[in-house]
Amino acid sequence: MSNTAEIVDFEPSPNNLEAFWMPFTNNRQFKSKPRLLVGAKDMHYTAIDGRKILDGTAGLWCVNAGHCREKIVEAVRAQVGRMDYAPAFQMGHPAAFQLASRLAAMLPGDLDHVFFTNSGSEAVDTALKIAIAYHRARGDGTRQRLIGRERGYHGVGFGGISVGGIAPNRKFFGALLTGVDHLPHTLDIKANAFTKGQPASGANLADDLERIVALHDASNIAAVIVEPVACSTGVIVPPQGYLQRLRQICDKHGILLIFDEVITGFGRLGANFAADYFGVLPDLITTAKGITNGTVPMGAVFARKGIYDTFMQHPQGPIELFHGYTYSGHPLACAAGLATLDLYKEEGLFERAKELTPYWQDAVHSLKGARNVIDIRDLGLIGAVEFEPRPGKPTERAFDVFLQTYEKGVLTRVSGDIIALSPPLIVSKAQIDQIVGTLGDAIKQAA
Ligand SMILES: Cc1ncc(COP(=O)(O)O)c(C=O)c1O
Repeated sequence: MSNTAEIVDFEPSPNNLEAFWMPFTNNRQFKSKPRLLVGAKDMHYTAIDGRKILDGTAGLWCVNAGHCREKIVEAVRAQVGRMDYAPAFQMGHPAAFQLASRLAAMLPGDLDHVFFTNSGSEAVDTALKIAIAYHRARGDGTRQRLIGRERGYHGVGFGGISVGGIAPNRKFFGALLTGVDHLPHTLDIKANAFTKGQPASGANLADDLERIVALHDASNIAAVIVEPVACSTGVIVPPQGYLQRLRQICDKHGILLIFDEVITGFGRLGANFAADYFGVLPDLITTAKGITNGTVPMGAVFARKGIYDTFMQHPQGPIELFHGYTYSGHPLACAAGLATLDLYKEEGLFERAKELTPYWQDAVHSLKGARNVIDIRDLGLIGAVEFEPRPGKPTERAFDVFLQTYEKGVLTRVSGDIIALSPPLIVSKAQIDQIVGTLGDAIKQAA
């Protein structure tokens, strides 16, 4: 069906919006005044009323190469006509092996092995399970505890919300996983407000890991998981030296370090991965989103050679790791992934992001001094503006800014009292100006 036919057929009335229970959305607010998108190309969405909306958030942090890129569309189209699905267990298809090899080649260090999932949440749960099973396979079966971080977002599986640190994502869902501790988050607005890039102070917050080790003993701890830049919680940029310190402490105690790079992977910081950007090699990386440019759902866990080899050194049994998904390495996702990697490379998009970063940084920080803005943060092509909450009405001000910005033709992301930005890496300087200028106008009106 063409977009035009959909528009004609569609009746945007509350009645036919009722059945779909929307995720992470104020359903009643949305359904009373829907924001429906019907088309997308490069840097723009088309709204149902025909308006062009400039995409300031790469969809949901995923469309790094821009929308409906012909190369990816064609690859998916060709694959679905050739072979729609192949069983993921005890069978294989070439594209999954090709994509895994291509990914391994672009990963730092000996992160040589790839386990495919369908989302970031599944990648996180997979990585946590691999970490625990790895220690057990080495005869270290007491290492079961997992350490996350306050304000961390690791998706919505029980593993992810247990190590995650966002209260509303946890508090409705019971006891969660046992054996989980949390490091403190690293946002310190008092000390670091309006810092450009990484704040100078706060690396010592990593030392809290020593406190947790002293409490439980390292022999009971399997892994630490952090987002190198915590994005969904409102863009928390790691203090200088913090991730390096975390790596040192994990090494000292034989604890695996997992970087959740669902957002920071695939060029968002102007490097392949945040691990490259910060020069810190984790033991496992979780990813999703940009792996297929958001075209077909896919996630992945990247594992260091020693972890994979540990499982392979077991005496021959039926299966080395009792874990996987019906759609692990789905042919359409693999086709999209291969075309996406080609496009990133051909257009030099990660280098482009790096080159644009100073311009982006200055543009985002030009909003300093706007009404009720208490902090601005950035790294790579990520930005965030934090507002003083309205008294007794947290999150309302930022939500109003989000609505106003959308009305004015720019898509942003609202998260708590923060507006987050992460445009596709093909964004032009003029479009950066439009994103920031429109946000500034919306702040004047809404804030
Ligand atoms: C760091 C991180 N981990 C995990 C996830 C969950 O990914 P998904 O929504 O694909 O399950 C997200 C989603 O934004 C994320 O930002």
